[in-house]
Amino acid sequence: MSRLEDIFQRAEFSKEDLIYLLMAEGDERTELFKRANSMKHKMIGNKVYFRGLIEFSNICDKDCLYCGIRSSNKNVTRYHATDEEILYAAKYAYENDYASVVLQSGELETPGFVNRVDRLLKEIKKISNGELGITLSCGEQSEETYKRWFESGAHRYLLRIETSNEDLYYRIHPKNEKHDYAKRLKALESLRKCGYQVGSGVMVGLPFQNVEDLAEDLLFLKRIDVDMCGLGPFLEHEDTPLYQYKDQLWPKLKRFDMALKMLACLRLLMPDINIAAATALQAIDPVGREKAVTLGANVIMPNLTPCEYREEYRLYENKPCLDEDADMCRNCLEGRIALTGDEIGYGEWGDSLHFKERKR
Ligand code: 5AD
Ligand code: FES
Repeated sequence: MSRLEDIFQRAEFSKEDLIYLLMAEGDERTELFKRANSMKHKMIGNKVYFRGLIEFSNICDKDCLYCGIRSSNKNVTRYHATDEEILYAAKYAYENDYASVVLQSGELETPGFVNRVDRLLKEIKKISNGELGITLSCGEQSEETYKRWFESGAHRYLLRIETSNEDLYYRIHPKNEKHDYAKRLKALESLRKCGYQVGSGVMVGLPFQNVEDLAEDLLFLKRIDVDMCGLGPFLEHEDTPLYQYKDQLWPKLKRFDMALKMLACLRLLMPDINIAAATALQAIDPVGREKAVTLGANVIMPNLTPCEYREEYRLYENKPCLDEDADMCRNCLEGRIALTGDEIGYGEWGDSLHFKERKR
């Protein structure tokens, strides 16, 4: 039996197995992708679920060394979308049968921000007869805040660990109490405790990161038993400190390819979770997200952020769809998903099966 076949026979992958899979080339790489796609179809079917993404504010109190909206970046015009704009986007999602939205923003813990999110959650539930599912991606907050938001209608939360290697974590974040690795782990635990479907993920191809770290990242996601995952390639942003390492990074295509292999491995490792095709994939390859759908991803986040703000929500270089309005995004995605052979799960929440199984 080939080494690859031998690995696929196992119920659990070791770190060495994962490294082998992440390094696969040629026929072995193709076989990995094929296996991941069949696993997806076998375990969760051929539906791809939409989550309308509303990036409602880029005001951020954090200073992550990779992120374009970090608080020290003075080249960004800061914005808060108005309640009307946010509700309009949510309504668009509802009327177009997206079934769910993601509210994403920079990270703030002020009472004003916490109250505002709380109010928006209730409003979105109200305008959609309680039908629109809501995912939050608003960073680290106190358990009390997470609890409050859950009670007001959010039921999924995305908080990427970014890298599970603690040393590397402090090379891509300032070392201070605002960017504390232990605190982030604690936040992930609190989310679980509050009853959310919990999503996490990492960036692939960070400076100082190697394949071993990536294998560890996969084992980390398995260990904390995520219900959902979003992971994508790291893309250097010129207004950030990590830009200085741009010449030491893997070439973009390698970062892209490694991110696809990470997705495929994760699908094999955690067959029934929800996996998002990250927008960052599309920044490297125009059909990057669709490729991800053919090897394990089952969630796509069409951008519903009002166009005038998109330019200012640039976490990384080459962020796609900056000038496409929601209707164009929808049409463009519909055609592209059809090409993958899968179909869009309009009108369905498409919750993580993994979460449902755990609850049972
Ligand atoms: N490249 C790729 N992804 C990035 N993110 C932030 N900055 C970058 C970058 N330069 C990702 C982080 C964050 C998510 C919202 O966007 O993983 O969790
Ligand atoms: Fe931390 Fe943007 S400043 S992800």
